[in-house]
Amino acid sequence: MKTILVTGGAGFIGSAFVRELVLRQPETNFVVLDRLTYAGNLNNLLAVSDEPNYHFVRGDIADEAVVQQTLATYEVDIVVNFAAESHVDRSILAPGAFIQTDVVGVYALLEASLAAGIERFVQVSTDEVYGDVAEGYSTEDDAFLPNSPYSASKAGGELLVRAYHVTHGLDCVITRGSNTYGPYQYPEKLLPFFTTEAMDGRPLPLYGDGLQVRDWLHVEDHVRGIQTVMERGASGEAYNITAEQLHTNREVTQLILRTLGRPADLIRHVPDREGHDRRYAMDGRKLHDLGWRPQHVFAGDGCAATVRWYAENEWWWRPLKSGEFKQYYQEQYAARLAAAKPPGS
Ligand code: NAD
Ligand code: DAU
Repeated sequence: MKTILVTGGAGFIGSAFVRELVLRQPETNFVVLDRLTYAGNLNNLLAVSDEPNYHFVRGDIADEAVVQQTLATYEVDIVVNFAAESHVDRSILAPGAFIQTDVVGVYALLEASLAAGIERFVQVSTDEVYGDVAEGYSTEDDAFLPNSPYSASKAGGELLVRAYHVTHGLDCVITRGSNTYGPYQYPEKLLPFFTTEAMDGRPLPLYGDGLQVRDWLHVEDHVRGIQTVMERGASGEAYNITAEQLHTNREVTQLILRTLGRPADLIRHVPDREGHDRRYAMDGRKLHDLGWRPQHVFAGDGCAATVRWYAENEWWWRPLKSGEFKQYYQEQYAARLAAAKPPGS
């Protein structure tokens, strides 16, 4: 029986990976190692919590002793690293945790994985490592030009993974996914944040002119992309995972409001995010060659079905928007909203 260690498996994308594979692959053991930061949530894993091939360990990927012990106890074959501080705005307010988890944490995982002689290390990375792409599409060999502390820390983690492959021969693959949406996403990210705020009739703080472009990838497609690279990716290679569905933030906001039947005058144009990348866009042909294609259409049912999921699952998100979130909201949005312009001005 194979064992896969899923670090960060209580977060948005990691938990989708676990929910999907635990049920589909009963002959494989899945061990989640997660520190349960504000973004980690065991409710994301309720669907599999009683399955015999699912195990949970609370711990920090930067704690090499914990990682070593987990790898040995469960006789881990493959490590899939989702664990990260993942929110750009928080990396502008407090970058230290990003360096600690996204760089030092990856280093500790790599050291322990090398010592344990694991079969394959999968690093989940992001299109943000390429930086702003004014035109055209990033290919896997393009230079890294990260612009936020988040994307710089993800680039640093990725470069360590590459170095352990080249220097120590560790079997590694890297995925670079685009902007991911779907159920169970912590409600600080654009789609769940705007959906849940609009449901409560609260203002939607759209940064700058709202014409920044993101590539909207459904979490189920992202998970299948990571699984494809884990199973069939060539050692040492990185793979873009792109839905090739580019939309401006303004279009996304309008889709959310239309789905909920809420008015456009909830939108507030607030001062822009510092260092805000204008556009991300990637070339997906390398992963297509492994047989993967996205199945969800964002402007079809992808966005609308996701908005409906938040509308129908208040039990999941409402508790997350109290306590720590309120403090974050105050720090991130109070001054911005005070300086806001209504739509059309
Ligand atoms: P998330 O913030 O929802 O989840 C991160 C998880 O990691 C949480 O469960 C958290 O508790 C855990 N974690 C954080 N620090 C840890 C540590 N030191 N040790 C152990 N666990 C720790 O993030 P997500 O959106 O699910 O993203 C998962 C991965 O995918 C990240 O590496 C992110 O960079 C990457 N990614 C995200 C997107 C996106 O749009 N969300 C797109 C491309 C790539
Ligand atoms: O592109 C992949 C990346 O996508 C991942 O690597 C990150 O982990 C993930 O958080 C996401 O980063 P973004 O910065 O693109 O996501 P976010 O949801 O924070 O913002 C999406 C866009 O919406 C971005 O252009 C900023 C804008 N935005 C966001 C928020 C939260 C607003 O205009 N207002 C907001 O309040």
